Amino acid sequence: MNEAGWSQLEQAAKAAAARAYCPYSRFPVGCAVLAGEGSIATGCNVENASFGLTSCAERNAIFRAIADGATSIVAVLLYTPTPAPVTPCGACRQVIAEFGRYARVRAICDGPDALEYALHDLLPDGFALAKR
Ligand code: THU
Repeated sequence: MNEAGWSQLEQAAKAAAARAYCPYSRFPVGCAVLAGEGSIATGCNVENASFGLTSCAERNAIFRAIADGATSIVAVLLYTPTPAPVTPCGACRQVIAEFGRYARVRAICDGPDALEYALHDLLPDGFALAKR
């Protein structure tokens, strides 16, 4: 993944964050994922008055990518308009792993710092099942 590719994901994730529905946390998150097929899908967090039904930006982006025909995820860009970057929650790591065992995950924010990981380092020894 080159910097031009990351920059495309960055633009897309920032646009997605602006559409976050987060009236309870006031913590918008935007995510853009690059599919193995080359397409980009985005997602934002969508909260619910029944808090546990909230859906994270990463999962919304991945589910959209798959629903639109992607079969694998190679890169995930997470954006939060915060001073420091944040990393994907545990549930989202498991969902990324389903389609992107070898994905790169980058987190950016409004400050100067960024984080980048191999998914494997965010979820070592993650749960997997043989496909039937
Ligand atoms: N959130 C995400 O969208 N992704 C994460 O990886 C962590 C948390 C959202 C869920 C909720 O709407 C808000 O951030 C605060 O937890």
